[in-house]
Amino acid sequence: MKKALMTHLTDDFKQAMRRLATTIAIVTAGKGDSCTGMAATAVMSVTADPPTLIVAVNRSASIAAFMVEEEEFCVNLLAARHQHLVGVFSGQKKGRERFETGDWRFDPERPPVLSDAATSMMCRKSGAIEMSTHILYTGEVTGILNHPDIDPLVWVDGAFAAASRLKD
Ligand SMILES: Cc1cc2nc3c(=O)[nH]c(=O)nc-3n(C[C@H](O)[C@H](O)[C@H](O)COP(=O)(O)O)c2cc1C
Repeated sequence: MKKALMTHLTDDFKQAMRRLATTIAIVTAGKGDSCTGMAATAVMSVTADPPTLIVAVNRSASIAAFMVEEEEFCVNLLAARHQHLVGVFSGQKKGRERFETGDWRFDPERPPVLSDAATSMMCRKSGAIEMSTHILYTGEVTGILNHPDIDPLVWVDGAFAAASRLKD
């Protein structure tokens, strides 16, 4: 009975969280030829001083090992026209092959940066909090490329959406 209730609660929780609209990010880690990226919506701001964010990474994701090993990761907030990147970076392709799609900038010392992202934030890993299936990585933001003219790609109710301002 308790298990049935829990299952019900889990399903309700998943349904509830579908209502939480978020900009889709691609989190990248690794450098040079040894790198990968993952589509992620579990990204949140923690504090502005020092600028710090959190990314929740499933332990089973291919980026998980990079997140453990590497000191840096990059959070690229997608633009409305990046829908085709989401499938690629959530399983359609693997590892370095994922970067054949999209306009990526590579640096031998740093994780890849998406040139035309709505925003890219380079982060220095500052902590890791274990939480069941996921590890929450805190990152201190060390560099930001903001493109305020680019509209972000939103994920809500399990589908893509574009952000638009409501009239007063
Ligand atoms: C819209 C969307 C958002 C996602 N958000 C997250 C997330 O925040 N954290 C996470 O660990 N996985 C998230 N995923 C799942 C990963 O993108 C994907 O399953 C992961 O990369 C595992 O595939 P891989 O092992 O082939 O890399 C999301 C997937 C999609 C489509």
